[in-house]
Amino acid sequence: MSAADATPNDLESFWLPFTPNRQFKREPRIVSRAKDMHYFKPDGTPVLDATAGLWCSNAGHCREPIVRAIQEQAAELDFAPSFQFAHPKVFELASRVASLAPNDLDHVFFCNSGSEAADTALKMAIAYHRANGEGTRTRLIGRERGYHGVGFGGISVGGMVANRKFYGPLLAGTDHLPHTYNRAEQAFTIGEPEWGAHLADELQRMVDLHDASTIAAVIVEPMAGSTGVLPPPVGYLKRLRELCDKHGILLIFDEVITAFGRLGHATASERFGVTPDIMTFAKGITSGTVPMGGCVVRKHVYDAFQTGPDHVIDLFHGYTYSGHPLAAAAALATLDLYREEGLFERAKKLEPYIAKAAMSLKGHALLQDIRTIGFVAAFDLAPVEGLPGKRGFDAMRVAFHEENMMVRVSGDTIAVSPPLIAEETHLDEIFEKFGRVLDKVS
Ligand SMILES: Cc1ncc(COP(=O)(O)O)c(C=O)c1O
Repeated sequence: MSAADATPNDLESFWLPFTPNRQFKREPRIVSRAKDMHYFKPDGTPVLDATAGLWCSNAGHCREPIVRAIQEQAAELDFAPSFQFAHPKVFELASRVASLAPNDLDHVFFCNSGSEAADTALKMAIAYHRANGEGTRTRLIGRERGYHGVGFGGISVGGMVANRKFYGPLLAGTDHLPHTYNRAEQAFTIGEPEWGAHLADELQRMVDLHDASTIAAVIVEPMAGSTGVLPPPVGYLKRLRELCDKHGILLIFDEVITAFGRLGHATASERFGVTPDIMTFAKGITSGTVPMGGCVVRKHVYDAFQTGPDHVIDLFHGYTYSGHPLAAAAALATLDLYREEGLFERAKKLEPYIAKAAMSLKGHALLQDIRTIGFVAAFDLAPVEGLPGKRGFDAMRVAFHEENMMVRVSGDTIAVSPPLIAEETHLDEIFEKFGRVLDKVS
C-alpha cells in the first residue's frame, strides 16, 4: 500500500472532542484537504466552509503566504524557549497585536489556545489586585451562556450548563451575570438589539451582595459566540465598563472569536467603542493554521507587576509553547494578509449583504429566530420535542453529507461564520444550501 492509500481504516482509537463518538464513527465527517473557501472530502468532493473551520480560518484555507512563512520558519528556528529567552518574531508580533488593539491595550502575553487565554486573563486579574495591595479581590464574575473554553477557570466563569455540570464544584468564588437574550424582545434583530442594556446593572446587584472589595474581574464575550451568537444589546458593554470603573473591577473581553475581523473591525472592543482592561484572542491570529492565543493588557495592568527586585519573575505563569516560532511566523504572515487584502473592511462592507441573505430565510416554519452581526449569522431551529439538540445536530449532518457544506452547531442553533474572503456568490450559496437543509430536517 502506498502512503497515499493509507487513509485511516480504524476510527476507534481517536476520541473526538465535543462530539458524539459512536454516531461519528458510524457516519464519519472527514475532510482531508482545504483551499480558500473549501474543504475537500477524501474522495475529492468540495465542501463549502461556512464556518471558517471553527471560527478561526478568517483568511481562508492554505493561503500561500502563510504556508510559506510556516515552512520557512520550521527550517530556520523550530523552537525557542519563552521562559527567560526569546526570539525576534515574537516581539514583532506583540507590537503588531498591540497596535491593532485599541487605546492603551499595549502589552501582549502569548499562549496556545482560547482556553489558555481565558484562564491566563483570570489569573492575571487576581494577581493584579494582589500586586496593588488589594489581595481580597479574588471573585470572578462571568455570565450565563458565556463560553471561555474548557479550563477550570473558563468553565467556572462560563455559563454553558453541559460544560460545567460534569466537573464538580469548579472554582470557588464565582458568580454570573444574566445572559442578554430575550426572544420576545429581540427575535429577528439585525445587529445589536435595542432591548437589554439594563441587564448590565445586575453587576451593581452583585457588588451590593459581595462587596466590591471581593471582586477581581468581570469576563464577557462582547458577542457571545459558542452559545449561539448573541450580539450585545445597544449600550450594554458601555454600562458594564462604567460599573467596573466605579468599583475598581477589571473588565475582561474574551475576543477569541471576535478579534481579527469577525465583526468587521480588528476587535469587537473597537467596534463597540469600549476598551477592556484585558482582552483575550486566539483563532484568527494565525487564521487557525498554528495554535496560538494570548491576552492583551492595558498599561496599568502590566505596570502593576513591574515592581519587584530585578532578578525576580514578575508573573508566575506561562506555557512551554508561549510565542512558539511557528505560530509567531504564521501570525505575522496572517496579519500581513489581513492588511493587504483589507479583510476586516471587507467583512464590514459585506455585513449588510450577509444580514439580508440570512434574513431572507425568515418565515421558514422551522426558524424561531435569526441573529446577524458582522460576518456572522445564527439560526435557532425549533427543537424536536423531547430531544433538545437533535434538530440542530441533524441540520449539521445533512449540511455536510447532502449539501457538502460545513456549519457549526450548538444545541438547536446553527451558526454561519465564513472565512472573510467569501464572495457574494459564496454567501448566496451558503444560504441557498441552508434553506434546503431546513426543508430536509423539517
Ligand atoms: C470566546 C471563547 N473563548 C475561549 C474559547 C476556547 O478556545 P480554544 O478552543 O482555542 O481553547 C472559545 C472557543 O470557541 C471561545 O469562543
